[in-house]
Amino acid sequence: MSVIRPYRPADRAAVADICILTGDAGGDSRERFPDPDLLPAAFALPYVEHEPELAFVLDDGGAAVGYVIGTADTPAFVKWYREEWLPPLAERYPLPERTMTPLDWLVGLLHNPERMLVPELADHPAHLHIDLLPEYKGAGHGRVLITTFLRALGAMNVPRVHLGMDPRNTGARAFYERMGFTEIPVAGEPRGQFFGRATIAP
Ligand SMILES: CC(C)(COP(=O)(O)OP(=O)(O)OC[C@H]1O[C@@H](n2cnc3c(N)ncnc32)[C@H](O)[C@@H]1OP(=O)(O)O)[C@@H](O)C(=O)NCCC(=O)NCCS
Repeated sequence: MSVIRPYRPADRAAVADICILTGDAGGDSRERFPDPDLLPAAFALPYVEHEPELAFVLDDGGAAVGYVIGTADTPAFVKWYREEWLPPLAERYPLPERTMTPLDWLVGLLHNPERMLVPELADHPAHLHIDLLPEYKGAGHGRVLITTFLRALGAMNVPRVHLGMDPRNTGARAFYERMGFTEIPVAGEPRGQFFGRATIAP
């Protein structure tokens, strides 16, 4: 039986795998980004490293098969990412002079945490990522995971949360709208779409 529980350090590899298997507009990213470490290093592991208390997993018999992860304070997260998280990764993945491949584009994102500081999102200080392995989708787990996250933020007195997504991911969009998120228009962001909502007070 699957349960939702707080993240544990032993979930780290499973979280990275889930990120890879859902990282291309909700689908398997291995063809687009043929490097097993880069996507989780950019979009999953910094969150469980920085704010493990805000990470929750869907556990099916001992293994994590889905997660919701994020930060309560995007500017503080960006500062930590720039100062602590990025330096060893920047050595391993130097910024390419030109963006020739999807992997180059991803390395560019890795090097630019300040892209997360979007003026239109400043009054939604928290942000999140939610991903489930394909066989666990559509069974209500996403709803419980995101509600757990919204309650955890509410208990920390964080008023609102945002997320960014690939516009190709129409299923995720439908999910977020169903969960009470509304789109936040952001100037000059043709690649991404942003949604936000209030957290849930305890
Ligand atoms: C998006 C995701 C987290 C949703 O979780 P989920 O467990 O599949 O969603 P749930 O079963 O809890 O659905 C909750 C509600 O959203 C709706 N919903 C979920 N997925 C939907 C879809 N693809 N199309 C339409 N509605 C959808 C459900 O119908 C449900 O509505 P209801 O409460 O009225 O019945 C999950 O499908 C997923 O991990 N997808 C792959 C990774 C991904 O795309 N992550 C988001 C990246 S931005």
